[in-house]
Amino acid sequence: MADFVNILTEEKNGVLYLTINREDKLNALNYATLEEIKSIFEEVADNKSIKAVIITGAGEKAFVAGADIREIADLNEVNARKFAENGQEIFAMIENCHKPVVAVTNGFTLGGGCELAMACHMRVASANAKFGQPEVNLGIIPGYGGTQRLTHLIGRGKANELMMTGDMVDANEALRLGLVNHVLPTKAEAMAKAEDIVGKIMSKAPLAIGMIVDCVNAVYLPEENGYQTEANSFARCVKSGDYKEGTSAFLEKRKPVFKGE
Ligand code: COA
Repeated sequence: MADFVNILTEEKNGVLYLTINREDKLNALNYATLEEIKSIFEEVADNKSIKAVIITGAGEKAFVAGADIREIADLNEVNARKFAENGQEIFAMIENCHKPVVAVTNGFTLGGGCELAMACHMRVASANAKFGQPEVNLGIIPGYGGTQRLTHLIGRGKANELMMTGDMVDANEALRLGLVNHVLPTKAEAMAKAEDIVGKIMSKAPLAIGMIVDCVNAVYLPEENGYQTEANSFARCVKSGDYKEGTSAFLEKRKPVFKGE
């Protein structure tokens, strides 16, 4: 993996750790950081040695405190639309990634940071995490898919309340709302929990994991019939060697060894 300016990457035991590394700006997402996320996810799709991704923010104070406000203080109608579409496209790459992507959030998880976490397949928070979509304080709205994903995750009423008030919720409230999967006391423990989850997923059939991503995402695509997507994906699974291996291993009373083929 190439070196990046705003992101630290480390590959360990099949997991790519992606750390947004602008700690003095509370890891705010500027354009360059988004482009780096894009090129990392292009590589994740192609690189067979990467089997899962964990995204976190540098330091204890913030996961990501939003899009970089310095860069969005002077937009016009044309480049504002491009700004939103570009962010949406990059976050959709995360959501559609066939390998599990887990956000480990600590501290401020606001605006584009909350949207980044929501684009991941799962979220594990440390107890000091705070979530919110404070864009209304700036006269704007979430633009990286937040209006959609927040509503999908926590429902219309609560999503409206969070976005219209700009209020933050703490980690336990986020857990209650279904915004995060787990809350652990510290960032280190949240990371260990995320590693536990991706470790379990990596022991399963990789092609089936990718099919689950497609089918779950189909729920939110009005042009797609999710049941049809499910039936098609199910049929694709049985063409794989992993299907033969999984069913044979069960019948032979042994552990399966999946190859992702
Ligand atoms: N964009 C750009 N810079 C940001 C930022 C953002 N979204 N969030 C924080 N920063 C920068 C601050 O400008 C400051 O930089 P400086 O030291 O050069 O002045 C640094 O990060 C530390 O932030 P600061 O505001 O001093 O910390 P705080 O503890 O007082 O407050 C927050 C923390 C998160 C409450 C506050 O930074 C904040 O409200 N950030 C913006 C959140 C937001 O509106 N996000 C949505 C953007 S669309």
